[in-house]
Amino acid sequence: MNLTTEQKEKVETLLSQMTLTEKLGQMNQVSVSIVGSFDVSFEELIEMLTDGRISQEEFGKLMAGARKDYHKDDIRAGKVGALMVDDPVEYNRLQKIAVEETRLGIPIINGRDIIHGCLSIFPIAIAEAGSFDPELFEETAAMAAREARSQGISWFYSPMVDVARDARWGRVSEGPGEDPCLASVFASAKIRGLQDHRESTETYVAACMKHFAAYGAVEGGRDYNTTNMSLSRLYNVYLPPFKAGIEAGAASIMASFNDLNGVPNTVNPFLLRNILKDDWKFPGFVVSDANAIRECVSHGIARDETDAGVQAVNAGMDMDMGTEIFNKDLPAAIEKGLVSMDTIDEAVRRILSVKVWLGLFEHPYLTDGEIHRYDVLPEEHRALCLRAAQESIVLLRNKDHLLPLSKKTRISLVGALAADADETTGAWAISYRSGDLTSIKDAFAEYGVSMSYHAVCGPESDINEEELEAVLHEDSDVIVAVVGEAKSMSGEASSRADITLPGRQREMLEKLLTCGKPVIAILMNGRPLALSWEDEHLDAIIEGWHLGIGMGEALAQVLFGEINPSGKLSSTFPRMSGQCPVYYAHTNTGRPGGRSKFTSKYMDAGYKPLYPFGYGLSYTEFACENLAVTQTRDALQVSVDVSNTGDREGAVTVQLYMRDVTASLVRPVKELKGFQRVDLQPGEKRSLSFTLWKRDMGFYNNEGKYLTEDGAFQIFAGTSSEDCLMDEVEVTF
Ligand code: BGC
Repeated sequence: MNLTTEQKEKVETLLSQMTLTEKLGQMNQVSVSIVGSFDVSFEELIEMLTDGRISQEEFGKLMAGARKDYHKDDIRAGKVGALMVDDPVEYNRLQKIAVEETRLGIPIINGRDIIHGCLSIFPIAIAEAGSFDPELFEETAAMAAREARSQGISWFYSPMVDVARDARWGRVSEGPGEDPCLASVFASAKIRGLQDHRESTETYVAACMKHFAAYGAVEGGRDYNTTNMSLSRLYNVYLPPFKAGIEAGAASIMASFNDLNGVPNTVNPFLLRNILKDDWKFPGFVVSDANAIRECVSHGIARDETDAGVQAVNAGMDMDMGTEIFNKDLPAAIEKGLVSMDTIDEAVRRILSVKVWLGLFEHPYLTDGEIHRYDVLPEEHRALCLRAAQESIVLLRNKDHLLPLSKKTRISLVGALAADADETTGAWAISYRSGDLTSIKDAFAEYGVSMSYHAVCGPESDINEEELEAVLHEDSDVIVAVVGEAKSMSGEASSRADITLPGRQREMLEKLLTCGKPVIAILMNGRPLALSWEDEHLDAIIEGWHLGIGMGEALAQVLFGEINPSGKLSSTFPRMSGQCPVYYAHTNTGRPGGRSKFTSKYMDAGYKPLYPFGYGLSYTEFACENLAVTQTRDALQVSVDVSNTGDREGAVTVQLYMRDVTASLVRPVKELKGFQRVDLQPGEKRSLSFTLWKRDMGFYNNEGKYLTEDGAFQIFAGTSSEDCLMDEVEVTF
């Protein structure tokens, strides 16, 4: 995010003209909190919803009503800097008040959770990350930016780049998985996609990376929970994607709900000031998560709301999402000398800089043409949805090469999820139009699949015995069962302690197996699931995640071999829920898992996951050979040959890992350091080379200091984190 001298001057001129009220107004995002027209607070409403006094629907209506009443007077008085509006006409109306009826005419910035697509719904992030395709990450972000800008949304609460290693946490669906390197590539590609396509103000938005930081490490995978970790873990695992995104120019960042080592990140100066603003020189602004400033009272770190507001702003929080505490309580606190005007000016300067950079001053409103530009989803957008879905599918199991099926195969399609188009979208899709979606069942029908369909059972429904009987006695060749989680079972506030297939779906599968036909599972889920039983008993398993608009068609193409699956897992799948957290980049321990009882493992689940990070099958075979490592002063040059040894074309992601064997801190048994996705014809061999810069081979110690240490390093290359060639070298820095 670079501003011209002229733009910087504009910010300073505005700042010099602003009253304190106007400054605090810029730091105020009116969104999920309900003020003005309601007698109850947001918290009370939530309480009413939780204890059943109002239904979900009534809650929704109240919220929608509240949104319509958006403090027009507050906007007019310059007390609102940011909004969360999803209706473009409403956006224009409110923006007009800000631009034409306020003293200084500063436009509002409008933010929304566009996480995996706006009108075009792409795969959820955990799935898309598995494509290992940075160009795709960028293209889907750029398309979402264009679509959203046409709806008045110029600020995205994404990318979500929380490294997450505990599949019980529902929000694993929203981020790029368990690995800091993949998540960093994802973060920078997303920032480029959102922010760097600046043909006009209609083609880019301001990104807001979230949730800063270590939210993915919430204890036990329980959402909003505490996090506690060493500095080395924080720096080596959780911070890298944020650092990468900031280097790519991220315009804003959202602090996370959790506390980190006892300090809620909303009021955490170590994170927001020392690391983010001082060390990393982040030029954008920090926003709180929704209502998080107020929640510092519940955390037990602030005496009251005023105290929370003072701590937050002094820690480096620039914008308050949803509580109005800055507006209400900071004037008196400033008067008392608890907050300095320099602190306020710094926050406002950051916010105004983003608004200027976004072109909001020149182009605050939407024209009719813009609003209706994507009334019909363009073919090119659908095509990208399809490609993203194709690349994100992971083939987990394929016994005796059952797949791909021949076009003539007669299928019994089962599973309630198969018929529900809405379920294809995933937990954070909020702006799509139902008419743009197709269920798996309908997509299969359009594809010309010879099939019958019975729901039989879903994640939240019972087994329909009659339908089950019908399937068992049907004249078909295979059973394809679409099973998994409803989309509401992942995402925010959707942690699960038992991550096996929910409801009676496994029982349905057991019964389906009794008819002796091959059973293929297509999974629809927002997290790694514990699938030992399924892996043991089913003939094939296709990981379909929530793939968005292209889901059904892409699955049909994979099932029948028009597309060769190429996705890899961005997150490890455990054998049992109790193995969580389980991830490939673990440390070795003094007693690495093995046959002896006295090694690090579970008596009932061993130490190995079911499917490791980077794993994913293909309809062809790939082999790596000739790993060679040479050393120059600044880098290791790694080369490896990869061949397609099977009989059909396919894409493979070759992964480069390293292990620092002799570091002064115990380092992971493998760390991803690079990857290349290549297409290979049958019989084709390609020599790949990777440059592993020595400056990237170090690690942070427990003082947060980056070290590179001479010693032995193992270098691995292969097609999954478990299937690798290895070489060992002595490295001098
Ligand atoms: C979530 C954020 C989201 C915000 C605004 C919060 O509850 O944690 O991820 O961006 O709401 O919708």
